[in-house]
Amino acid sequence: MKSKTNCIGILTSGGDCPGLNAAIRGVAKAAIHYGMKVVGIHDGFRGLVENRTVLLDSLAISGLLTRGGTVLGTSRDKPNKMPMGGKERDMTQVAAENAARLQLDCLVCLGGGGTQKNALHLHKEAGLRVLTLPKTIDNDVFGTDVTFGFDTAMEVATDAIDRLHSTATSHHRIIVLEIMGHNAGWLTLGAGIAGGADAILIPEIPYDLDKVAAHLAERRRTGKRFSIIAVAEGAMTREEAKAIADAAKAEKKETREADRDKKGKGKEKGEGKDRARKERPDREPEPEAPLPMAGAVRLVQEPKASRIARELQRLTGTEARVTSLGHVVRGGTPSATDRLLCTRLGTRAAELLAEGTYNVMVAVRGDGCEPVPLQEVAGRRKVIPPDHPWITTARLTETCLGD
Ligand code: F6P
Repeated sequence: MKSKTNCIGILTSGGDCPGLNAAIRGVAKAAIHYGMKVVGIHDGFRGLVENRTVLLDSLAISGLLTRGGTVLGTSRDKPNKMPMGGKERDMTQVAAENAARLQLDCLVCLGGGGTQKNALHLHKEAGLRVLTLPKTIDNDVFGTDVTFGFDTAMEVATDAIDRLHSTATSHHRIIVLEIMGHNAGWLTLGAGIAGGADAILIPEIPYDLDKVAAHLAERRRTGKRFSIIAVAEGAMTREEAKAIADAAKAEKKETREADRDKKGKGKEKGEGKDRARKERPDREPEPEAPLPMAGAVRLVQEPKASRIARELQRLTGTEARVTSLGHVVRGGTPSATDRLLCTRLGTRAAELLAEGTYNVMVAVRGDGCEPVPLQEVAGRRKVIPPDHPWITTARLTETCLGD
């Protein structure tokens, strides 16, 4: 078959994860098979804007299958809000010009939720053809059964729970383990079930620590003198969840009011919002959004697990300890499942490119990999539904979910 695509660019964007190199290799090998030229772009969308590229020929991609991280480098920079020279700039057109100069027929973007949005932005605002693959340890990309990187991270987190069991048992302690996952609980719930955690706290189910403490006390009463609590980094108490929901409601109301004001009798642009502000004199002036630093966007946070451990120790009278896995779950070599998945996704991407299919995400659907319009995916997030089978499984194995 004569390929409809002659030259592609590949970039990796957002947080790294195991399997990115395997996916780069899968796309590139199959693309080369179809006769395409493959250009690697360094450090995500920033590399496209700054014109930093490398030719990915068959030698360059050799040995990538098992390597962790991404050889192309990554960043969280968005094309339309890129920190440049101390300012945040819209570099969309520059990205498009560079893609044209490189003669890219399509830009292949490997990334999570943010990457899907950025890719769609480049297509809509600059006419670039794009194709994406769903990557993230969080497993929260909409429209795909699973994301690559998730399986490996779940293995690492499960191994950590296994190891914590032997020390928690020996000392008759509570150990609270915090696990990444952004605002989704997939990683913590999956590893928690696989590792046999006694309580699993995830963002989708706001928790009540009194309930958790009662569960631990009952375990102790039946002779089980240790407990492991798996906590997702995004988990929240019922009070925190209510405060967030209330704030979202208030913001929505404010936006509605401002829109109504704007539409009011021939008002000039922005006037409605100004009036809404004047009517609430006690309101703080809006702070200027801080400029994200290139590279280090956030400092290491104090683990939420510390607070939970302290409270559980107080409520149960059992000594508690804390472990935070942090970026350990994202490091190292990909599992066999992820290597296979990345190779399947990558080669399917090249097939679609050869056929001339663009502006889609290649999604995992059962045993196959299918194109899904990017428009349907971007801006949506897949969290755990309350009736998900994993939730039922956890409950049926006497796991406390904090509710
Ligand atoms: O999206 C992947 C992820 O590892 C999340 O689980 C986590 O919240 C975030 O990235 C951490 O980001 P960073 O590596 O920028 O600290």
